[in-house]
Amino acid sequence: MDRVDRDRIQIGTHSFEKYLQREAIKSRVHELGVDLMVDYHDKNPLFLVVLNGAFMFAADLVRACDFAHEVEFVKMASYGGLNASGEMKRLIGLPDKMEDRHILIVEDIVDTGKTIGAVREDLLQHKPASVEVVTLLLKPDCLECTFESPYVGFEIPPAFVVGYGLDIDGQARNFADIYQLKKGK
Ligand code: IMP
Repeated sequence: MDRVDRDRIQIGTHSFEKYLQREAIKSRVHELGVDLMVDYHDKNPLFLVVLNGAFMFAADLVRACDFAHEVEFVKMASYGGLNASGEMKRLIGLPDKMEDRHILIVEDIVDTGKTIGAVREDLLQHKPASVEVVTLLLKPDCLECTFESPYVGFEIPPAFVVGYGLDIDGQARNFADIYQLKKGK
């Protein structure tokens, strides 16, 4: 079995086991594309992809969106370990003209919800017509602020996950499946 298709992976001292298969991810991303098509086909939305974690999800998502749209990339501090720090660097890469645009923020995962809350607040300063979040993963039990979105790929338990763009200390983004940290590891 090659490195990018394993039931278990070891990253440093951490052991992970396969949690979401690539086929399930593909099919859910397609469904999200259909939902977005219904809601945004005539709105020429602007997808703002939050790097680094959302790069793989975004690449598949926009290919599942068969309607006019634009894609831009923004960046914040990366996650540096197993606990959300709650700290965020300045959001960089925002396009100049967002006034009256329909913005879709593309995230890999919403954990406490603090990051996405700060991003949304920042974007609202630019007077967009609307702002919604499309997130592949949501950990509802970890939320520390209000978070609502009709575009959530999967609700997952609080365990740390990697793969499909999500990392641990920069590693494991390359896996096509999503892996969950084994308990007690
Ligand atoms: P929040 O501000 O607590 O919602 O954290 C959001 C960010 O933390 C995400 O964009 C990820 O970069 C990171 N993060 C949270 N949980 C995980 C995880 O299970 N795996 C990898 N990154 C995570």
